[in-house]
This record gives sequence, C-alpha cells and structure tokens, in this order.
Amino acid sequence: MSNTTDSSTHQIRIWDLPTRLFHWLLVVAFILAWLSQGDDRYLDIHVFSGYLFLGLLAFRLIWGFIGTHYARFYHFAYGWRDVWDYLKTLLTKQRQHFLGHNPAGSWAVFVILGLGLIVSLIGLLTLGGEERHGPFAGMIGFAYGDMFHQWHDVMAWLLLGLIGIHILGVVVESGLHRENLVKAMITGFKIPPNSLFSKEPIRENIRVHRHGLIASLLILVVIASSVGYFWGYLTQSEEQPYLPFVGPDLPDNALWDEACGECHLAYHPTLLPARVWQRILNEQHDHFEEDLDFDEETLVELHTFAVKNAAESMQTEAAWKMQHTTPPDYSKLRITKTPYWLEQHQNIAEEIWQHPDVIFQGNCAVCHLDAEQGTFEDAAMRLPNNEIPEK
Ligand code: HEC
Ligand code: HEC
Repeated sequence: MSNTTDSSTHQIRIWDLPTRLFHWLLVVAFILAWLSQGDDRYLDIHVFSGYLFLGLLAFRLIWGFIGTHYARFYHFAYGWRDVWDYLKTLLTKQRQHFLGHNPAGSWAVFVILGLGLIVSLIGLLTLGGEERHGPFAGMIGFAYGDMFHQWHDVMAWLLLGLIGIHILGVVVESGLHRENLVKAMITGFKIPPNSLFSKEPIRENIRVHRHGLIASLLILVVIASSVGYFWGYLTQSEEQPYLPFVGPDLPDNALWDEACGECHLAYHPTLLPARVWQRILNEQHDHFEEDLDFDEETLVELHTFAVKNAAESMQTEAAWKMQHTTPPDYSKLRITKTPYWLEQHQNIAEEIWQHPDVIFQGNCAVCHLDAEQGTFEDAAMRLPNNEIPEK
C-alpha cells in the first residue's frame, strides 16, 4: 500500500446510498429478528423484521441488476478459481486488492443473500402452518408448520455462522490493507489501491450516481410500512388495547354465544375435544349444579357447531396442542383440568388467582384479550394488574 497522506483526496465512491442503506437495514432487521425469536409474545416484532428482511433482499436482487456499477452482481461474479487465487496470496505480498467486493467476500455476499431468502421463505411457511398467518395461511397443517419451524431454526443458525465469517473477512481485509471497510460501507468511499497489487483496472471515470430519489423512496416505504404495522401500538388506550398478533377468524355461532355466554365466557369449541363437548351437552341438566334445560333443536345446533370446530379441527395452536395432550379417557368436563391448560398456567402465582377480577380460573377473558375470538395468542395476554406476564 502506498502511504495514505494524499490518498484522502483520491477517494472514490464505491457503494451507492441504496446499497449502504440496504446493508445496514439488513443488519438491523437481522438483529431484531434474532432478539425477538423463540418467544411468541414478540412474534409480531419477529414477523415484522422477517418481512423487512425479505423486502430488503428483494430490493437487493433488483439492485444487483439495475444498480450502480459496484453494486451489480456481474461486477462481483467471481469463479471459485478467483476465490482460490485470492485466498492463496492473501498472506503474501502478491495479495490482490479489489475496489468492490473481493472474490471471497463476493461469495459470502451471494451465500448470505441466498440463505437469507431461504430462511425468510421457510419462516413464511412456519408462519402459515403454526400461526395461520401470512401468504401460506390455511395451506399448511400445524405439523408441517412445526417441521418448517425446525428448518427455520437450523437455517438461521447457518446464516448467523456465515455472517460471522463475513465479519471475520471484513476484519482481516481491513487489517491487511489498512483500510476501514466498515467505514467504507457507511460513507461509500474507498481509497483506490496501489495499482501494482491490483488485479482490477481502476476505473475512476465510472460515475456512481447517488440515486437520491430511489433511496428516499426506499426509506419512505420502510418507515411507512413500519408505522403501518405498529399503528396499533402507537394508538392503543386502556379501552382499546393493542391486539398485536390476532389469530385467524374462527367460525362463530350466534346461538352458541348466546346460550353458553350467559353465565361465563362462551368458550370456543377449539378448546376441548369433541367427545368432551358431547358429554357437556348430554349432561346439560347437571351442568356444574346448573340446569341448562335447552330444547332438542337448540341442542342439535350447539352439538353440530361444537363437534365441527372442536380441538380435532386444529384451527389454532391451542387446539392442536389440546388435541395432542388430552388423554382419550379424560373424564372432567373442564378446560381448566386438562393437562395442557394446567401446564400452561402452572407458573401463575396464587395471589393472581385470588385477584378480585379473576373470580374463577375459567374466566379466561381477564387475562386473554382474544378469549372471545378463541385464538389465545401469546401477544394478547395481560395479567389482571395489567402486567404483561413473564415467561
Ligand atoms: C346457567 C349458567 C350456565 C350456562 C348457561 C352455561 N354454563 Fe357452563 N358453567 C356454569 C358454571 C356455574 C360453571 C362452573 C364455574 C366454576 O368453576 O365455578 C360452568 C363451567 C363450564 C365449563 C368448565 C370451565 C372450566 O373451568 O374449564 C365449561 C367447559 C362450560 N361451562 C361449558 C358450557 C357450555 C358449552 C355452555 C353452553 C352449552 C355452558 N357452559 C352454559 C354455568 C353455566
Ligand atoms: C389469571 C390469568 C389467566 C387466566 C384466567 C387464564 N389464563 Fe391462559 N394464560 C395465562 C398466562 C399468563 C399464560 C402464559 C403462560 C406462559 O406462557 O408461561 C397463559 C397461557 C395460555 C395458553 C397458551 C398460549 C400459547 O399459545 O402458548 C392458552 C391456550 C390459554 N392460556 C388458555 C386459557 C383458557 C382457555 C382460559 C380459560 C379457561 C385461560 N387461559 C385462563 C393467564 C391466564
């Protein structure tokens, strides 16, 4: 490397503004997605960052064809021989210096882009299967969603590993060429290398446009979609709490709501297996010491609705889990005695059950804002003192 005293005047712009914005927004989206993973209460943030991630990747794919010189894929489409040559001479004086991505770096970029797309797409399949949200909602069963979830995790770890290698490469190259590549990705400027070591002809005459308009549009789209996504958070009040991750619209029945909602919440049929609903209706004259006394016609309609939408229909995560954990010989007529319910609520402190608002355990709506709809999303839970429950 030549000395750097006058090189500052020799800087040329390599990374255009959209490429730099893409790079750092991708970093933000990845960190957000990583921090919000694994806990369903932050699923809305996770899904949002996933969409942002995917949107950014889609932008980068387009930019790889229509962007400025150094951002275009053809400019850094190196073969494996170039990578080998680059790595072979890396620690010698013959090492090559590139203005854009070096061959090893370019491979990292392609693999990160490809793997990022795979992770996001598998994430959408998980979302469709497990939560019945997103473009694949209703097309994939819960069990497949669960399988995709595992792949999503594996691929995300792979992606993290690659990002680690990429960062290591940046540190190594910055050190070897005494050039701060992180700064270059912020300012866009790099110092043209001494042409003796450069494999690449220096093309200072290339005009790298600033693309201010496209960049501003990009920022606007990102801000607008973020605000749109989180509008509920921004405008929530006590009367209208934010229901961030509202599940699918479950089938509803006016007679069921009226007949069963008179004394307590009209529990959604997805919360118990069909055989338990059948027993509840058959034993209507001795319903927890109440006589429900429905006529035959009413009973038939309630029965049809309950059986059709019972846990077996697996319309929600809770239904799926209830269906898979309630033993065939379960003999109680309660939701609150099922193994699944007991497991989910075992960590709730006794004083919370004693809170005057709770009244009894079957009063799901005090803690689950979406209890009426029957979806029981994690993000819609509040404890009676208005605290968000701790895991
Ligand atoms: C006349 C009032 C009344 C009506 C109407 C009524 N129930 Fe109940 N239900 C009760 C009472 C009382 C309990 C017991 C509450 C407690 O545990 O203290 C109960 C409990 C339940 C439970 C158990 C909740 C738990 O702890 O898991 C289920 C399930 C249930 N009812 C279903 C229904 C269904 C389905 C209907 C409509 C077909 C219905 N109920 C209509 C009074 C009623
Ligand atoms: C006193 C508050 C409270 C009441 C009442 C309550 N729950 Fe919960 N429920 C919670 C909390 C808190 C969690 C989360 C526990 C955890 O994740 O460790 C939870 C978790 C759940 C989950 C699991 C959600 C998921 O996807 O992981 C389901 C399903 C559920 N409750 C259903 C019910 C039903 C049905 C009722 C009424 C019969 C009910 N709950 C009554 C507080 C309550």
